[in-house]
Amino acid sequence: MSKRRIFVTTALPYANGSFHIGHIMEYIQADIWVRFQRMQGHEVHFCGADDAHGAPIMIAAEKAGKTPQQFVGEIAAGRKQYLDGFHIQFDNWHSTDSPENTELSQDIYKRLKSAGLVYSKPVEQFYDPVKGMFLADRYTKGECPKCGAKDQYGDACESCSSVYSPTELKNPYSTLSGAKPELRTSDHFFFKLSDPKCVAFLKQWLDTPGRLQPQVANKAREWLDGKGDRELGDWDISRDAPYFGIPIPDAPGKYFYVWLDAPVGYLASFKHYCKRQGIDFEGFLSGPQTEQIHFIGKDIIYFHTLFWPAMLAFAGTPYKVPNHVYVHGFLQLGGDKMSKSRGTGLNPLRYLELGMNPEWLRYYIAAKLNGNVEDIDFNPEDFVARVNSDLIGKYVNIASRCAKFIEDRFESKIADLSKPVPFKTSDGNDAVLDPNSIRPFFVVIAPPASSVEKQIVGFESSRTAVTHYYDTREYSKAIRSVMIMADLANSFIADWKPWELAKNRSNDALLHAVCSSFLEVFRILTIYLKPILPRLSKDVEEFLNLGKPLEWADLDNPLPPHHKIRSYKHLMTRVDEKQVDALFEIPKETKPVTAPAPHPAPPAKAETTTTSAGPAHISIEDFAKVDLRIAKIQNAEHVEGADKLLKLTLDVGSLGTRQVFAGIKSAYDPAALIGKLTVVVANLAPRKMKFGMSEGMVLAASGETPGIFLLSPDSGAQPGMKVK
Ligand code: MSP
Ligand code: ZN
Repeated sequence: MSKRRIFVTTALPYANGSFHIGHIMEYIQADIWVRFQRMQGHEVHFCGADDAHGAPIMIAAEKAGKTPQQFVGEIAAGRKQYLDGFHIQFDNWHSTDSPENTELSQDIYKRLKSAGLVYSKPVEQFYDPVKGMFLADRYTKGECPKCGAKDQYGDACESCSSVYSPTELKNPYSTLSGAKPELRTSDHFFFKLSDPKCVAFLKQWLDTPGRLQPQVANKAREWLDGKGDRELGDWDISRDAPYFGIPIPDAPGKYFYVWLDAPVGYLASFKHYCKRQGIDFEGFLSGPQTEQIHFIGKDIIYFHTLFWPAMLAFAGTPYKVPNHVYVHGFLQLGGDKMSKSRGTGLNPLRYLELGMNPEWLRYYIAAKLNGNVEDIDFNPEDFVARVNSDLIGKYVNIASRCAKFIEDRFESKIADLSKPVPFKTSDGNDAVLDPNSIRPFFVVIAPPASSVEKQIVGFESSRTAVTHYYDTREYSKAIRSVMIMADLANSFIADWKPWELAKNRSNDALLHAVCSSFLEVFRILTIYLKPILPRLSKDVEEFLNLGKPLEWADLDNPLPPHHKIRSYKHLMTRVDEKQVDALFEIPKETKPVTAPAPHPAPPAKAETTTTSAGPAHISIEDFAKVDLRIAKIQNAEHVEGADKLLKLTLDVGSLGTRQVFAGIKSAYDPAALIGKLTVVVANLAPRKMKFGMSEGMVLAASGETPGIFLLSPDSGAQPGMKVK
């Protein structure tokens, strides 16, 4: 087998928020694949980065009172805890807002320009005269030109579903400033995807057998043929200042549209890593053996199968077109993307904070993943069942049932598995365990009742299958094969009954051979599971006292005769259902402090096709709808029978007094609150609670670390004052 040289990436997450479980799923998928390839002895470089540029991030930073660099820097600083927490082993994590990315993006652009694939033309667009910037469709709202519904986005009406362009809106306004936008014209740069040489290249690229999953290639071909659900014209690759992005060479005030420099970020991260590692970036990239592979989700196929390969192809050496783009579906919760009843869904950080084992999640996700683009479902009951029955009940069980005997009876030494052991079968016949023929352990483990005549489980073929399944990302099938072997081993153990053999010292040789053989089986299964369970495998390597990490080739290196193992410590605990319940409890942090449920925010409209570009913007009018007032806490008391709530009586000046139930009991002693000033949402619909009416909501801060912090105004504020 020749050594592969592979450069692997995952999609670059927008740097406007923490990782969510969908990101973690993608990284787990890629991480398993990378670990598997490394265990084969291949050279793999695994890079990620933050996708830092674009208008939404620029605006979010401004709102947070930070520079975009500060803003994305803080997001980046929070990445490590997730990656380390779930054993996701990127070789490098970088940013698209980096010198490498500027240099590479500009270089690629210049090459495309020389190839005659870039031109400019005037584009008419809404402009916000107050903000002094052009408005992407998502930042213009107005009345639907068809049905008149108010507050509709610039591209489609959520009320009547008609599609239009922002300039058709009646009474349009900028969602950034509330100002009436003006139509202005500006020159934009375009990448000429319609050029016949581009189209010809893409056809051939998409048709290369084995490059893409068939569903993915079909989808891209539809777009290319103009039959898909998106129009494929020339690609507008520029944006006007102010924009957080990379300047376009020789075009003052123009920046690359974020989707141009985002995929270049793959190369930027790799280049940054190469410098540190002393690898020749260009040499590696242009090497004929090198494979460039991108793992992405199904929502960004469009960019990765059309624009990105075309950019690379026409930029020329050392750039190379991706060898594969591996697309996965979405992780959903209980069949629902982010179910309301389950709060914010599965928060990866909360998972870790609850002390849940990251390998349970890796295993469960792997058990669900295949090589298709299908969505996968996280089902909490199924999660508990799979982890407990497969990992603990089947796999770990093998070691825990055999290790004790080796330790207590045979000075922790493995038997010589090459020596035949004579014994009597259950029907009283003489038989011999001959571990030496074919594959030692599967012959050995064949139980006496089913006669020792070679009961071969097809080890070689299952090995071929598991290897193939990993390589093709059919992890669920790999796991199924492994669990079939584990089941078989367990049923053989049950037949051999080492605990019965142990009762009579005359069976010692047999007991020793049997237990040693099952530990050997356990070692093999550990190799198979290692890409998914790196931490547990490390503990097994320790326990078996292997002296070096297990690799795929170790399938051929059984435990040597008389090898001494270490004492067995429990390898993994079971999932406790209570932990899973706690995981899906609507976390305190996102619950309103008082009872009334917030209206769900309308879905964020992204500038791109993704659904996760951060919180939707609201207009100043939207904000003005919330009547925030200074309130003085006249009285605060415990509520009989409520474990989270305090009952507050608030003086809201001209608005009179209000009774509010606030979920702050864990953080405040009622006596200490009396006399304090705070902020209340005064126009929230009153809500009847078990304990009485709640007539507003006090505001408090909370985050991922413990604590609830009531807001208070600066001194001088008076009850009833408006907060705006
Ligand atoms: N910034 C772009 C990608 C640029 S790549 C040059 C982007 N970012 S994202 O944060 O929205 O998504 C990052 C990755 O997470 C994408 O591959 C996306 O498909 C994936 N996922 C987002 N939600 C997901 C799930 N619910 N499940 C699985 N993956 C999901 O798109
Ligand atoms: Zn409408």
